[in-house]
Formats: sequence, C-alpha cells, structure tokens
Amino acid sequence: MSLITLGIESSCDETGIALYQMERGLLAHALHTQVAMHSEYGGVVPELASRDHVRRVIPLIRQVMRETGVSMAQINAIAYTQGPGLGGALLVGASVANALAYALDIPSIGIHHLEGHLLSPLLSDPAPEFPFVALLVSGGHTQLMRVSGIGQYTLLGETLDDAAGEAFDKSAKLLGLGYPGGPALAQLAASGRPGQYKLPRPMLHSGNLDFSFSGLKTAVLALVKQSDDDVQTRADIAYAVQEAIVDVLAYKARAALTQAGLDQLVVAGGVGANQLLRHRLNEDIGKRGGTVFYPDLQFCTDNGAMIAFAGALRIKQQQTRKDYRFNVKPRWNLAEITDNS
Ligand code: KG4
Ligand code: ZN
Repeated sequence: MSLITLGIESSCDETGIALYQMERGLLAHALHTQVAMHSEYGGVVPELASRDHVRRVIPLIRQVMRETGVSMAQINAIAYTQGPGLGGALLVGASVANALAYALDIPSIGIHHLEGHLLSPLLSDPAPEFPFVALLVSGGHTQLMRVSGIGQYTLLGETLDDAAGEAFDKSAKLLGLGYPGGPALAQLAASGRPGQYKLPRPMLHSGNLDFSFSGLKTAVLALVKQSDDDVQTRADIAYAVQEAIVDVLAYKARAALTQAGLDQLVVAGGVGANQLLRHRLNEDIGKRGGTVFYPDLQFCTDNGAMIAFAGALRIKQQQTRKDYRFNVKPRWNLAEITDNS
C-alpha cells in the first residue's frame, strides 16, 4: 500500500483534517468552520480560534479515520500547516501533528499554507500541468506566481496593501454585511444594477503585476456616506465593488500569463470561489486560447486536503526526518521555501 498522509490545517478559523494516499488520491476530509463563532465579533478573534482548534482537531481526526477505516498504524506521515497564520492557531495543529507523529514513530512535515492553496487545483480532474501561473487570492494574500514545479515558485506580483479578500471583507462591513464579507457581498451584488456607481481600479495601468486595494475601501466609505441607505442602493454599491476587484484581478492575471509566456492559469484561495471572477477569467483567458483551473469549491477556502496533498508531494520529493522539535511561522514568505537550484 502506498504512503498515507494525514493533513492538519489550523492556520486561521477553520480546522481541516484529511487523509491522502498517493495512489488512490484523497481518502477523506473533514472541516469545522468557526465562522458562526467569530461572526458575532465581525472578524476572527485569535484566542477564540486557538481554543476552538483544540476542541475540534482530535474529533475530526477520529472522524476521517472512522470514515475510511484507516488505522493509526497505517498512517505513514503527518503534514501540518506551519505558517503563515495566527500564532496560537498554528501551534495547535503543529503540536498535535508532532505529538502524534512522535507516538507513531513516523515523520512530520510543516507545510506552507500558500503552497497548499497553490497546489490544490492539482487535486481536481483535469489538473493543470507544470509550469503554470497561479493567482492566489485569499483573505490575507493576493499574489501572482509562476509555478514551475513543486517548490519552484517565482513571485510575479502582489498586493502592496490590502488583499483582495480583505477588500471584499472591508467593503462588506461598510455595507453592513456580516463576516466573512466576500460571499455576502457577492450575494448582495447579484441584485445590484450595473453602471450606477464607478469605483477606482487601483494600479490597473501600473505597468507591473502588483495590486493595491486599500484605496477601494476609502472610496466605498465615501459612497456609503453620501448615498441613501436602502437595499437597492447598497446592492448597486456591492455590484460596483465586485466589478472593480474582479476587473483588476482578471486584467493582471491575463497580463501575468502574457509576461510568463504561459497559457494555464490556476486560481487558488477563498476569493477563487467568487462566481463573477470565475466567469470573467474563463472568458478573458479563454479568448487568448488559455485555460483556467480552479480547485473544487470546497477546496478553495481553507481545508485539510490541500495540506495532506502538499505534504504527500513534499515527502515524496525530500528527505524527511523524525525530528519532532517544531516551531510555527505566523509570517512566512513563500520565497523562503522556493528551491531555485
Ligand atoms: O483562503 P481563505 O479561506 O482564507 C485565507 O487564507 O485567507 O480566504 C478567505 C477569503 C475571505 O476574505 C472571504 O471573504 C473570501 O475569501 N471569499 C470570497 C468568496 N468566498 C470567500 N470573496 C468573494 N466572493 C466569494 N464568493
Ligand atoms: Zn487560506
């Protein structure tokens, strides 16, 4: 039987657990989202997040083992999110992973959360082939990367301030919507009318592949203040916000493919769940003969499957050690795990 990897994700407000086997693919995955718990506060409360991971992680591991019939003795390695993310939340996954790996006498491996997102479209069928351009759009990151292989990531451009997901979340908050704002704003935008409001497209013609979204929230604030407070007006503003963010992302993604001389685009991270973004990318990239790949919707946002999968690929590729000393890296640049040899 080929290698079975247990994956543990706990970097933010989702506890994700999965079992991945090289030959058979994803065996099972389970997720607990803390969205309801944090929504009362309008955002993630780090201490509450850590405590909830403590409560969830073992029951979720038991759940995937029960579902698959895989026993502890059959697990060959444990992958966990080592960073970036909330320090306390990361520590829960890292300590459980290392304690369990020590007890089972198997290797543990720390995974970069964004590498998990980057590789997650490879879990789908059809999967992209290396090399491709990845558009990483989450609550904390907005980056365009050239992915030449596992561990071979070149940054092409990134946001200079807010992430795209943050722009969705902050605008949603200004429109009186709950957390997380992205899906709520997209839903409200569905009843919005085109052309009612015009919002800036920051850095659209900057000539490089960088982004800036912080000005958008200021523009939305001004609009909200000067407009009527009825549902249709708010829907029209939501429509304009979504258009502005999607326009910039689609334009720069297309420019990145041109610059890299590639025709496959992979979209990863929570904002990749946005239907307008998907529609626009398919259209724009399709027109130039390219293909866009997305992870399954359930693997767009944080999950354990991408960590188990990235762990399995990494373990196949690199020497693993049974060294259970661990640290977490709340701030961790993807460039640090890039193998440029
Ligand atoms: O990747 P993710 O689950 O967590 C991070 O690592 O950040 O991404 C979460 C982000 C949030 O900002 C959320 O508002 C956004 O993804 N998001 C969306 C949609 N679904 C999630 N934004 C726009 N449209 C959506 N449908
Ligand atoms: Zn994420």
